[in-house]
Amino acid sequence: MMEIRACDAGDLEVLNREWPSNDVWEGHMRRQLTGEATFLVAWDGDEPVGVGMLQWKGCAGEKAHAALPGAVEVNHLQVRESRRGQGIGTALVAAFEELARGRGITQMVLAVDADNPAARALYLRLGYEATGVVDTYTYSYRDDDGVERQATEASEALVKEL
Ligand SMILES: CC(C)(COP(=O)(O)OP(=O)(O)OC[C@H]1O[C@@H](n2cnc3c(N)ncnc32)[C@H](O)[C@@H]1OP(=O)(O)O)[C@@H](O)C(=O)NCCC(=O)NCCS
Repeated sequence: MMEIRACDAGDLEVLNREWPSNDVWEGHMRRQLTGEATFLVAWDGDEPVGVGMLQWKGCAGEKAHAALPGAVEVNHLQVRESRRGQGIGTALVAAFEELARGRGITQMVLAVDADNPAARALYLRLGYEATGVVDTYTYSYRDDDGVERQATEASEALVKEL
């Protein structure tokens, strides 16, 4: 059975063992500890199968932040490659929406790159709407093999009224 919960120190240890990230999870944890973000992990029993971050300070992109000042943003959404297409991403988004509603937030943003039409289609299906607000950023991430990669994205903010 799947469970989604905020990552704690015990979870972090299992996460690092089962799904190594070369310190990405530690970075997420540090931001959660400052209170600026919530780091949710989806578990199938003892197996971590998906992650995501809710940024309480709002949109990471400057233009999106200015255009949608009251919104929070979910980013770093990732489901393990072998577990994609099983509803885990959908469940994570729903859990983030619940968290945001619990704090009286009425707008949530998912930013999606033009090169990621599958994720975009999913978010539109979940009720997120195009805004035409596009921010460009460069970021690094670890792929499923633990290899650090850099990417530059032109991401459009998709917004949902909660
Ligand atoms: C995008 C992502 C988080 C969605 O999670 P998920 O658990 O696969 O999504 P769900 O099972 O809830 O929904 C399935 C839908 O997601 C979309 N999707 C996006 N990428 C997908 C992938 N690699 N495999 C399967 N479905 C994918 C499809 O539209 C799919 O719809 P379908 O079942 O009608 O084909 C996940 O696929 C992922 O980690 N992708 C790589 C990283 C990424 O793109 N992150 C998002 C950045 S904005």
